[in-house]
This record gives sequence, C-alpha cells and structure tokens, in this order.
Amino acid sequence: MNNEELIALARSAAERAYAPFSEFRVGAVAVGAGGTIHVGVNVENSAFPATTCAEAAAVAAAVASGVREIEVVAVSCLDATEPGYPCGNCRQIMHEFGVRRVILDGPSGPIEHVLEDLLPHGFRL
Ligand code: THU
Repeated sequence: MNNEELIALARSAAERAYAPFSEFRVGAVAVGAGGTIHVGVNVENSAFPATTCAEAAAVAAAVASGVREIEVVAVSCLDATEPGYPCGNCRQIMHEFGVRRVILDGPSGPIEHVLEDLLPHGFRL
C-alpha cells in the first residue's frame, strides 16, 4: 500500500472511533514488516485517562496478530484543522516495535516523517 492508500484506510477507520468526549476521531494503520495491515481507532472512556489512542490500538492489533516488527504507521485525525501528530506516549509505543516511518494526513496529501525525528533517543531497556 502506498502512503495515499494508507491514509485513506486510516481516515475510514477514524469514522469508527469512539470519541464522545473529545469529538476528536483518530484512525491509525500499522503495517507489519511482512506487509500485514492492522487498524486502530481511539477509544475514549468516561474515566478519561483510560482512553486508548488510535496509534496504540493499531500497534496492539499488530502485536495481537503476532507481529513484532512494524514498518510504518499512518494516522488520520478526522476532526483536526491541521495535521495531528502522535502524542509522546504513542511515539514511544511505536519506537518499541521498530516503526521507521510515520505518515500523517495533511491538507494536500500525506506527510511523511521518520520516527527517529519525532522521538530521538527513544527509551529502551
Ligand atoms: N489521540 C489519539 O488517538 N492519538 C494521539 O496521538 C493523540 C490523541 C486521541 C485520544 C483522545 O481520544 C483524543 O485523541 C483527544 O485527545
């Protein structure tokens, strides 16, 4: 899948987000090193800190499918007025599984970043 296709998939996933509190719907797609596709959406909770971000959900779906190496994560924030960047926690979650590239849904097409630029010196045990 190319960047445009990944963003289109993230955007359609975002329509299934559960975001009644923020009304900020996010969809994410994680692509495993073997090319498998895993989607996630943000899932909010009445107890706000129990919320799951879309990127975290996509990574968790990949791991649940047996994937341990993730090549790329694409993110679409449906309700944003400007490209939504992954939060710090999600950057660290992506770092854990070797994500190299992060694709954002920009106003005139996909915006590509290297995760290392978004999270230099991510934590490792
Ligand atoms: N959110 C994500 O899904 N990913 C991020 O990287 C940042 C924020 C979600 C969490 C919450 O449901 C909503 O966006 C507003 O913070």
